[in-house]
Amino acid sequence: MDSPKTRNTALLDWVKECAALAEPASVYWCDGSQQEYDRLCQELVDAGTFIKLNQSLRPGSFLARSDPRDVARVEDRTFICSLKQEDAGPTNNWDEPVAMRANLQRLFKGCMAGRTMYVIPFSMGPLGSDIAQIGVEITDSPYVVVSMRIMARIGSKVLEVLGDKPFIKCLHSVGFPLAGGKPDVAWPCNPENRYIVHFPETREVISFGSGYGGNALLGKKCVALRIASVMARDEGWLAEHMMIVGVESPSGQKHYLAGAFPSACGKTNLAMLIPPQGFEGWKVWTVGDDIAWIKPGADGRLYAINPEAGFFGVAPGTGMDSNPAAMATMTRNTLFTNVALTDDGDVWWEGMTREKPAHLIDWRGKDWTPASPTPAAHPNARFTSPASQCPSIDPEWENPKGVPISAFLFGGRLSTTFPLVYQSKGWAHGVYMGATLGSEATAAADNQAAIRRDPMAMLPFCGYNMADYWAHWLRMEQRITHVPKIFRVNWFRKTADGKWLWPGFGQNMRVLQWIINRVNGSVQGHETVFGTVPHFDDISWQGLAYDKSTFEQLMGIDVDNSRREFEDQVKLFADFGAKLPPELEAQRQAMLADVRR
Ligand code: GTP
Ligand code: SPV
Ligand code: MN
Repeated sequence: MDSPKTRNTALLDWVKECAALAEPASVYWCDGSQQEYDRLCQELVDAGTFIKLNQSLRPGSFLARSDPRDVARVEDRTFICSLKQEDAGPTNNWDEPVAMRANLQRLFKGCMAGRTMYVIPFSMGPLGSDIAQIGVEITDSPYVVVSMRIMARIGSKVLEVLGDKPFIKCLHSVGFPLAGGKPDVAWPCNPENRYIVHFPETREVISFGSGYGGNALLGKKCVALRIASVMARDEGWLAEHMMIVGVESPSGQKHYLAGAFPSACGKTNLAMLIPPQGFEGWKVWTVGDDIAWIKPGADGRLYAINPEAGFFGVAPGTGMDSNPAAMATMTRNTLFTNVALTDDGDVWWEGMTREKPAHLIDWRGKDWTPASPTPAAHPNARFTSPASQCPSIDPEWENPKGVPISAFLFGGRLSTTFPLVYQSKGWAHGVYMGATLGSEATAAADNQAAIRRDPMAMLPFCGYNMADYWAHWLRMEQRITHVPKIFRVNWFRKTADGKWLWPGFGQNMRVLQWIINRVNGSVQGHETVFGTVPHFDDISWQGLAYDKSTFEQLMGIDVDNSRREFEDQVKLFADFGAKLPPELEAQRQAMLADVRR
């Protein structure tokens, strides 16, 4: 064991305990330095996990190909092991914590044989900020170490700030011991025995069997959402699956918006929006693309920080047309996972360029041509880049106090029924709009049953009973004096024959501008059953030929579809029994009554 740079006895004891259980060949305390990062990247190249990309095209960057069975979060293997099952609620997997711990003890026994056990002290949030939280991840994956160095603040400086205070324990193993000289593989994992387990009362995470993203980089979904949401409930703040942007007008007035969209529904795109033609002098600043921690400030406003230090973004669909800021962010010092490799040692994925390269090595390591029947990159292929490299990164992004939030946005992928944008009639109605958020897995038009409810985009990430979470959101109104306005947006509405009704991406700026005008009170709203909406003339159309009749289709409210939607929401609410805040059912009843009128 190398010498730890801490006297935190709880930490020292826990590291010893983990080493005794997992039986690694050695224990290494990560200092977070560039030299350490470079050395581990080289070791990953030597082990065949990383391919070093062409250094003149993509300096400091590497490609990893995962095991094809380990490509995404595993929601059915994710558990909230609260003491009482009702505290996990009907939307989470639950198991009795004592039994689960015994089960995990068995799995972890000797599971790091032949490997190095890395100790990664990490801070979610700017180092030393009183909003930040410190955790320590123990892992046997060097891929996790280098990814964590991009996604969080890690190393010796975190130990200094930690001192002898408590920390969030995060234990991770890929679950592939190298006992008895068993050879390693490029992407070790254990798909038969995966567990992503949270113990909310003791603020602990234990993850086994996966090396991928949200399953393994435990500061992200496990700590910054599932554990943090529980802390936020107890302490009176919010931990949300939200991007954060600052929108600056030509006169220099800046408003910050926070938006929840389910996974792969456009947070990164919106966070890095480049204003289109007609919006000269406007600027959109990126604070975060995935997670927001939001706290009431002394002045009665809500302030948000991005607890992460990097982006773990969806690669497919990202190109110079759709997201040039993301493309600029990943020009260097980036780890790519499950994208394709070009013949000149660079990366490619569907949607990066209009023209497909004539030859690639696909994400499985096989030859690929445009005639191949399968995509070159996995649909959930990701890039891991430092946020500081983003050209639109907000000057305030590391402000420990956070940025003041003027409005919340909720949006799913919904091809029918839901207008482009509407504003809630107040806080409780807004919470109801977020709580009933849905999104489509497929583009099946007019099929209400195809909607997966994803309340506040938090279905896979809320660490406690979703009904208690809604109650917490409802109560938040009383903790503040400047109550943010709440909006639903839908970039994904389609025509009956399946064409997008809205161009989306940079053009979403027109919607953001209307939202800000509503916040400022400088534009009149129009009441509908859903909420307050813009008329055609309330939106600035300069630079875009968009006709009024298409806009009317985009904003149209179909009485039968709407009624079916409000009726369908009862299925979501019914699962929560007596825990459901009555305000939410009252909101639903009011919507139904309105639409029937
Ligand atoms: P996670 O990182 O999984 O939490 O997701 P995210 O919300 O950050 O997803 P991301 O921004 O990477 O979403 C990517 C997908 O949304 C791609 O398929 C994009 O093409 C699509 N997308 C994003 N914005 C728009 C838009 O305005 N219109 C349309 N039609 N598609 C969009
Ligand atoms: C998501 O699935 O919402 C992500 C990717 O942001 S992961 O970190 O893998 O959860
Ligand atoms: Mn996400």
